[in-house]
Amino acid sequence: MAERVLIVDDEEDLRYVYTRQLRGDGYLLDTAADGEEAIEKIRHNEYAVILTDMRMPRKDGLAVIAAAREHLPDAEIIVLTGHGSLENALQAFKAGNIFEYLLKPLDDIAVLNTVVARALERRNLRKHNRELFEQLQRAYEELRQKSEALIQQEKMSAIGTLAAGVAHELNNPLTAVVGFAQLVSEKLRSNRPANWSDTEYERVAQAIENLVQGAHRARDIVSCLLRFARTSRPDARSLVDINQILRDSFVFTEHLLLRHGITLVKQLAPDLPPVWGNAARLQHVFTNLLINAQQATPNGGTVRVLTERNEEPKGVWIHVEDTGHGIPPEDLEKIFEPFYTRKAEGTGLGLSIAKQIVEEHGGEIRVFSKVGQGTRFSVFLPATEAQTVDPSLTNREAA
Ligand SMILES: Nc1ncnc2c1ncn2[C@@H]1O[C@H](COP(=O)(O)OP(=O)(O)OP(=O)(O)O)[C@@H](O)[C@H]1O
Ligand SMILES: [Mg+2]
Repeated sequence: MAERVLIVDDEEDLRYVYTRQLRGDGYLLDTAADGEEAIEKIRHNEYAVILTDMRMPRKDGLAVIAAAREHLPDAEIIVLTGHGSLENALQAFKAGNIFEYLLKPLDDIAVLNTVVARALERRNLRKHNRELFEQLQRAYEELRQKSEALIQQEKMSAIGTLAAGVAHELNNPLTAVVGFAQLVSEKLRSNRPANWSDTEYERVAQAIENLVQGAHRARDIVSCLLRFARTSRPDARSLVDINQILRDSFVFTEHLLLRHGITLVKQLAPDLPPVWGNAARLQHVFTNLLINAQQATPNGGTVRVLTERNEEPKGVWIHVEDTGHGIPPEDLEKIFEPFYTRKAEGTGLGLSIAKQIVEEHGGEIRVFSKVGQGTRFSVFLPATEAQTVDPSLTNREAA
């Protein structure tokens, strides 16, 4: 496309001379007879180069230069003036993008062709540079997001490895604690020490009961950690029971909800088809949704987790509902973007990673929300027919 050049001079003869001189160079030439007309044109057209006189009736050259700086920051300006003083020149250079400052009358009018061509070259180069810079910035931003997600993934598998080690180490002593606590409890029931008062006996019996329960809970957490660790490699997949994965997520989140005075209601359908998936990564999805729900819900609220079987297409719906503050409609699209957060301490990665994991499983994630009433996140995961279980996975599980 031809570049637009604006010629501004209050002398009609000069406008004619300049126009005739540049006519053959393939520009779209436009003229203005004073500053005001020039500014009006600058507002409405994309000029690449502006040739302007300085002294003109109604607005002068400085006003034209200032308008160009405001509306066409890329445009190059060539000043052609009969009043060349150092002061005038300085003023012009301060006001905007001056490419050249020429004194009238020009000794050789052909100089115009060269100056305009060179100005255009500089302008295009600058424009190109800016575009490259923007491209670079976009690429950088993309890279930053990808590496952030990768770090997050690495962290998860590091946590998995750590969890496996800890869980393994804890298993033996825990088995001993559970066993001995049970033994003491039974012994105490059958041989009550003769010199203990009723209250003393009750107190000790209750303490041992708490010990047994605590040890059982610790054992549940350990086996949950082991299940998590076993599948923390992103590519480790097997046929998984979504309800079991949710129960594992509850092990980590239920106390958090209780501590904030939130009731957790579980409605897990008994007839879910198995899903071919990565248990640790799916657990990560539900844990994130539950933590978000907790953070949005005030004391006294409710978080409800519901699963249901879907027939067409065959799969599982998992809904996580809260009675929290909700999400304004204009934010609904943004919440799945990486780094979008409204929390002082948030990374804004929770939902973007959740979405990524759900999509890796061929599923989808949806959100419904009413400000002041609550939010529901719904995850669909397709059931895969008759998958053969990866033998390496089975071996690892046996180990
Ligand atoms: N259940 C919810 N109720 C209300 N707003 C929510 C809910 N879940 C998510 N949001 C909104 O979506 C934003 C993005 O959530 P996301 O989990 O991606 O990041 P985050 O929770 O802010 O940070 P992080 O997960 O690192 O703690 C949140 O900051 C919050 O504004
Ligand atoms: Mg979050």
